[in-house]
Amino acid sequence: MDKTKYILDEKKMPTHWYNVQADLPEPLPPYLHPGTKEPTRLPPPLFCEEINKQEFSKERYIEIPDEVQEVYRVWRPTVLQRAYRLEKFLDTPAKIYYKYEDSSPAGSHKPNTAIAQAYYNKKEGVKRLSTETGAGQWGSSLAFACKLFDLECKVYMVKVSYNQKPYRRIMMETWGAKCVASPSIDTKVGRDLLAKDPNNNGSLGFAISEACEDAFSRDDTKYSLGSVLNHVLMHQTVIGQEAMLQMEMAGHYPDVVIGCVGGGSNFAGLALPFMKDKLTGKKKNTRFIAAEPTSCPSLTKGPYTWDLGDVAGMAPIAKMYTLGHDFMPPPVHAGGLRYHGMAPVISHLAKLGFIEAKAVPQIATFEAGITFARTEGFISAPETNHAIRVTIDEALKCKETGEAKTILFIHSGHGHFDMSAYESYLSGKLVDYDFSDEAMKESLKTLPEIPAQFK
Ligand SMILES: Cc1ncc(COP(=O)(O)O)c(C=O)c1O
Repeated sequence: MDKTKYILDEKKMPTHWYNVQADLPEPLPPYLHPGTKEPTRLPPPLFCEEINKQEFSKERYIEIPDEVQEVYRVWRPTVLQRAYRLEKFLDTPAKIYYKYEDSSPAGSHKPNTAIAQAYYNKKEGVKRLSTETGAGQWGSSLAFACKLFDLECKVYMVKVSYNQKPYRRIMMETWGAKCVASPSIDTKVGRDLLAKDPNNNGSLGFAISEACEDAFSRDDTKYSLGSVLNHVLMHQTVIGQEAMLQMEMAGHYPDVVIGCVGGGSNFAGLALPFMKDKLTGKKKNTRFIAAEPTSCPSLTKGPYTWDLGDVAGMAPIAKMYTLGHDFMPPPVHAGGLRYHGMAPVISHLAKLGFIEAKAVPQIATFEAGITFARTEGFISAPETNHAIRVTIDEALKCKETGEAKTILFIHSGHGHFDMSAYESYLSGKLVDYDFSDEAMKESLKTLPEIPAQFK
């Protein structure tokens, strides 16, 4: 038997982030200003200069500052594992590898960008960051990053997750952040919504509006986003660059690369460095599969069109696969996958045919997560279970065809704060939610009007 764990020396940790914009066959569409509908940068009151620069950079590699590398070294490089026990259980000839991002202090891939964003904001004199969080992984990552760089942090947590996961809030408070349930009374958009609908459970798109209003309304505050935008996806590419070296150590190159997608950042982090080989013709046949919930299926059901990044129209308009910014996803346990849109980079690559998407129902994802826990041992975040589901399905296809493919997936986070979700599955109470084409059609009615030259 070959090795189970591939451990990179700290000295091999990437010193640069990989920027896929340098290798795209066609450039990304611009962002449009929600008011003027003209191409725009990220709004400067929300984002610091360096982040804005990185968002539009075409440089292939951007140096990771020493101060950021120093913090990364607390848990990076992360381990790459071969899932022998899962392979054996599935009786598949496939070779399954996973890149294990749970070992960060917050328990997921999210600190890879949180640290970088906190560092640049601190350097430019910002005192406080505001953000939203779904499942709480992002909020806790930013809380941790802000504490290390001595910034205040305010987190608007989607109410359904706030109620499902009280310990995530306490984690944020442990790192000194303030966390409130969104919709909240702390913003005008929040108060307006609560006046209309006091029992509103919130959504990521709405929590973004609250966090943006917070940053717009204070001079000492900028906004920080944990997914979707180009710079966020780029910061995550430390994952894929490490995985490339580790796959080399293992003597295999992946035939299939899999990750779950909410806004697209963990999948991009693993996939984009391998995607470079596909885009440059070095490895033409690698497949990239994005796993999303059937209840919030932006890539598999949504149109590729211009939409607002948030409910209230404070963030720029982006071209992406979207269910409409008013779409209210059902309260699935994978709170981090309840976003109406998808990263422009992932949307663009999917549109050009470089990325496939698969939608999977909630119960099937927990079945996969339980199988993983009972073979490999690790208890995975509900989001991660989507990637595991698609991995298992691909491995079972290999069993049918007899092909010994190499499958690599990203284990984006642990599920230690998701025990109520597991309890719900184990006691047979977990439900699947239907996706309503009608509801999507309704929310797509509120897409912004776009000038003809951008259509
Ligand atoms: C563990 C985990 N995986 C995946 C995601 C989805 O986000 P993204 O698509 O940006 O990786 C989240 C978001 O909260 C998460 O917490």
